Amino acid sequence: MDTITNIMSRRSVRYYLDKEISDEDLKTILHAGMAGPSCTNARDWSFIVTRDPEVLNLMADGNGGPAGPLRRAKLGIMILGDLERAFKPAPDYWVIDGAIAGQNMILAANALGIGSVWLGTWPQMERVNKQIANFNLPDTVIPHSIIAFGYPDEEEEKKPHMPEKPKDMPDMPPMDKPMGPPPKMVKGEYEPDRIHMDRW
Ligand SMILES: Cc1cc2nc3c(=O)[nH]c(=O)nc-3n(C[C@H](O)[C@H](O)[C@H](O)COP(=O)(O)O)c2cc1C
Repeated sequence: MDTITNIMSRRSVRYYLDKEISDEDLKTILHAGMAGPSCTNARDWSFIVTRDPEVLNLMADGNGGPAGPLRRAKLGIMILGDLERAFKPAPDYWVIDGAIAGQNMILAANALGIGSVWLGTWPQMERVNKQIANFNLPDTVIPHSIIAFGYPDEEEEKKPHMPEKPKDMPDMPPMDKPMGPPPKMVKGEYEPDRIHMDRW
C-alpha cells in the first residue's frame, strides 16, 4: 500500500474479528511508533502493550465509556510520555511526540490490514489519574493515549451503534514534573526496553 493510499484509507475501527495479531506485526507497529520525529530526538515515550483481556479491560476502565473498543480489541497499546527524557526547555513537547508515535502506529497497522482506534487519555486528568493509579506509574510517566487494535469486523462496523458517552472531566492543576538526565541519543531504532508487557 502506498503512503497516500494508507493515509487516505485509514478510519477508526471499533469492532474486531476474533483473529490474533502476530508478534511480527506487533513489532512492526511498535517500530513504526518509534520511527517518527520527536523534539530534539528526545524519544520521550514508552508503551504499555497488552493482548491480555484483563489488562485491556483495565485500560478501558481508566478511560471510561468512550474506550469501549478496548474491551473487544485484540491488542492495546498505551502511549506514555517519559518526562525524564523530554526536552528540558519545553518539556510539553512530550505531548506532540506521543501523538506522532500514535499516528505512526495507526498507519502501520492500516498498511498491515489491522484496524485501530485512538482513545484519548491526556489531557482529561480524571482518565490520566486513573491510569496512573491502575498501572502504578512512576511520577515522571504520564499516560498520553491508548490505541485499540484488531482486524476489522466489517459487518459489525456497518451496523449503527449507540455512541459511548464521554463523562464530564473535572479541571485539574497543571502538571509540574521534575526533569531528569538528557535523553539517550538513538535514531529510528527499535528499543525493546521501552515496551512493558501488560504492566509498567
Ligand atoms: C485525541 C483523540 C481522542 C479520541 N478518543 C476517542 C475515544 O475515546 N473513543 C473513540 O471511540 N474514538 C476516539 N477517537 C477517534 C475519533 O472519534 C475519530 O478519529 C474521529 O471521529 C474521526 O473518525 P476517523 O478516525 O474514522 O477518521 C479519538 C481520536 C483522537 C484523535
